[in-house]
Amino acid sequence: MADERILIVDDDPIVQHLLEQFLRGEGYAPLVAGSAAAALDAIRQQPPDLLLLDIRLPDANGLDLLKEQLLPELGDYRVIVLSGYGTSQDAEAAVMAGAFDYLTKPVALSRLAIAVRNCLRLQYLSAEMEELSGGAVLPVSLRDLVGASAPMQALRDQIKRVAPFDVPVLILGESGTGKELVARAIHALSARRKGPFVPLDCGALPDTLVEAEVFGYARGAFSGATQAKPGKLELAEAGTLLLDEIGNIPLHSQPKLLRVLQTSMVERLGSNQQVSVNVRVLSATNSCLQQRVDEGSFRLDLFHRLNTVTLTVPPLRERKEDIPLLAHYMLMKANRAYQKSIRGLSAEAMATLEAYRWPGNVRELDNAVRSAVILADYLIEPTHLPQQIRAQSGEPVEMPKPAMKPGESLSQLRRRTSGEAERATILKTLEEAGWNKAEAARRLQVDYKTLYLKMKRYQIPPAKPV
Ligand SMILES: Nc1ncnc2c1ncn2[C@@H]1O[C@H](COP(=O)(O)OP(=O)(O)OP(=O)(O)O)[C@@H](O)[C@H]1O
Ligand SMILES: [Mg+2]
Repeated sequence: MADERILIVDDDPIVQHLLEQFLRGEGYAPLVAGSAAAALDAIRQQPPDLLLLDIRLPDANGLDLLKEQLLPELGDYRVIVLSGYGTSQDAEAAVMAGAFDYLTKPVALSRLAIAVRNCLRLQYLSAEMEELSGGAVLPVSLRDLVGASAPMQALRDQIKRVAPFDVPVLILGESGTGKELVARAIHALSARRKGPFVPLDCGALPDTLVEAEVFGYARGAFSGATQAKPGKLELAEAGTLLLDEIGNIPLHSQPKLLRVLQTSMVERLGSNQQVSVNVRVLSATNSCLQQRVDEGSFRLDLFHRLNTVTLTVPPLRERKEDIPLLAHYMLMKANRAYQKSIRGLSAEAMATLEAYRWPGNVRELDNAVRSAVILADYLIEPTHLPQQIRAQSGEPVEMPKPAMKPGESLSQLRRRTSGEAERATILKTLEEAGWNKAEAARRLQVDYKTLYLKMKRYQIPPAKPV
């Protein structure tokens, strides 16, 4: 991210100078305008990527300028408002009108850096979203699988490849990663797309019911079976059956399922009639099936049959770069669902989401954004996010125990241990960022050079040690 043109609109030369210096140091290309007229001139010559707009300008009210000229001309995610003492209400009004965020003067530079970065990133992401939803590039069903990270692109590619072949696919991934969405995409891209897609969550049912649901039953097959009922295998005729949490298929029903897969014939419980079925069986699980096989609770032959192709959906924490895009997508969905018009997430709220571990993956993110949309008025702030996300954002860093060394003074101890903590934090962040130093610097909220110097000081190698 470099060379984005940022227009600073402020008549105070000190502010101009400070922001210009800072933004240049961050790798952007800053420009300066001291009045509304000068700003409009600059914009007409070449629209900047981002505008930092002071609310109080000598020749205009920044809020009017924003509403009447800037937003219509520049569009979304282009303006961050600066408000001086006593103008924060105007700044809030500006955000409500469509500014991306606001900063109060004196501007905290670390906060400015985050706001600018998030704003530019959202521009990029919304362009990406538009492309994704344009439909020209991706088929409908892949469009619903949001994510621009390399693992998600690879996954979409694999789905496209495997979908047309009428083979079983095993989908692995933690809970809430989007396994069902992947299954739906496979179905929608297959020749069976006009047929039904039938999901069955085997994990939500007791053993006895799993069998009845999958295979169906004849009248009188067990007490309570007052009427015959077709199983999901029959209901998915000419379509696709997703057996979710496949590990929960009871051991004794597994040979039966295997037989269906081999012969395409199914027998309802309590019946000895065979019905032929034409179904593609997809299965999904968040547990380690191989381990189940090793323990003897899952049959190896069935395992082999189900995993002709295996797709793995990575956990959200391994594709953190998808978080802003997903959050934005969830926000739009929630706005629509609850008829609200939340503008976006503040820089801090986004940073909080990005720092969190997401044990519940995309589903948890979806829930967090939904509840924040309900609680917020115009912008999602950290206070609107669920407590556990705010509390645990970021993995707790193991602090070295501050044991005093012989002869060490208290201040020596303090210097040593805080250094050790810093070193540990840097190492951990590098590890999580896949040793991408620019990314690690971003997460640590220091600039690249600072990180570089600290790594040298703490003798951290420049690349992942082998
Ligand atoms: N890449 C994505 N883009 C958009 N929405 C997603 C994505 N991944 C997951 N979701 C949404 O997150 C929620 C959970 O996804 P899904 O039900 O597919 O997860 P799962 O892996 O099947 O979870 P479980 O193991 O708990 O069954 C759904 O609402 C789904 O629409
Ligand atoms: Mg599921």
